Amino acid sequence: MSHTITVLPSNDTFQINSGEFILDAALRQNVILPYGCKDGACGSCKAMIVSGDVTHNDKSNAITDEEREHGVALLCHTTVNSDVTIEARVIASGAYPIKKLPTRIISMTRPSGDIMLVELQLPANDAFEYRGGQYIDFILRDGTRRSYSMACAPRLDDKILELHIRHMPGGVFTDQLFSSMKERDILRIEGPLGTFSLNLDSHAPCVFVVSGTGFAPIKAIVEEMQQKGITRPVALYWGVRRPQDLYLHELAQNWAQTIPNFTYIPVISDALPEDNWAGRSGFVHDAVLNDFADLFAHEVYACGAPAMVQVAHEAFTTTRRLPESAFYSDAFLSAKDKK
Ligand SMILES: Cc1cc2nc3c(=O)[nH]c(=O)nc-3n(C[C@H](O)[C@H](O)[C@H](O)COP(=O)(O)OP(=O)(O)OC[C@H]3O[C@@H](n4cnc5c(N)ncnc54)[C@H](O)[C@@H]3O)c2cc1C
Ligand code: FES
Repeated sequence: MSHTITVLPSNDTFQINSGEFILDAALRQNVILPYGCKDGACGSCKAMIVSGDVTHNDKSNAITDEEREHGVALLCHTTVNSDVTIEARVIASGAYPIKKLPTRIISMTRPSGDIMLVELQLPANDAFEYRGGQYIDFILRDGTRRSYSMACAPRLDDKILELHIRHMPGGVFTDQLFSSMKERDILRIEGPLGTFSLNLDSHAPCVFVVSGTGFAPIKAIVEEMQQKGITRPVALYWGVRRPQDLYLHELAQNWAQTIPNFTYIPVISDALPEDNWAGRSGFVHDAVLNDFADLFAHEVYACGAPAMVQVAHEAFTTTRRLPESAFYSDAFLSAKDKK
């Protein structure tokens, strides 16, 4: 039996089969609602149920019992028992087809100890388009998946994807990448996935707050802004532990020198005396709090460590008047976080 879902305020409608999750039904019919992990872990698909009868199928920490009682649901794990009306942002642009493709590693470089910059060659005869900020999944031999954000805007000419991958010792994929994988190896991908991308309908100044390899999707977004001639003011805060972890520091400095209204603030949390670090220190979200008394008229894009994304969301929306709808995020959840 099928039911109808209505999305407010856009009034988009789509059909849903019995037992199907609301997010899956929406994406199947090309109604693009915000999502990240599709796994009940990141909270990106949270939406308000305005009317109708739903069943929550998650036991996730990404939503509280209080939120459920107030009508909030994780659409990636919610089924329906009647026609339902929800309130959610429909993403109009960037609904590129999701494809499964073989790719070949064409370069692996290590700008700093635990970071690998990987370039993948896409098949020559298959268009692969995406928005800066989206990610791909590697599909490993046993079907396990690992997600990585594209670190470049679409390169339609040479069809190369760039990724920035941090080694997590003991990790299924990154242990292999940093030990046995080599150029010319074939890796199967699925993408583009996720809806983290620049809101093209806004002219608000952007605050980019990133930790570690959260720099990757932001690099893709900055390149996309350059491609599209978008000149919104940008303040980029990049938080890492030690100065050498700013693996593309010179590129970010170059943006600050060459892109109008672009500022770059590197923030170091664990500098040692021998680092002679004279710049900003502490947690990256605290640096934003120090610099902005009010974020009401801004958009914030936060990506990287899940703990940073969570604390930034909490602090900016409760103490700096950032509207909930102006916080865009991509938490780099690992398989362990999703358990
Ligand atoms: C949307 C998205 C985008 C992402 N983009 C990027 C990106 O651009 N760059 C990037 O570097 N990462 C990114 N990530 C993170 C990435 O997907 C992987 O989670 C990460 O690389 C670790 O993968 P792995 O297979 O090496 O480790 P996993 O096998 O997932 O293990 C992760 C860590 O947890 C430990 N561990 C595993 N199981 C347990 C357990 N049961 N108890 C305790 N510890 C455990 C491991 O030892 C390891 O240190 C992204 C994640 C998401 C969701
Ligand atoms: S997409 Fe639903 S919780 Fe991540």
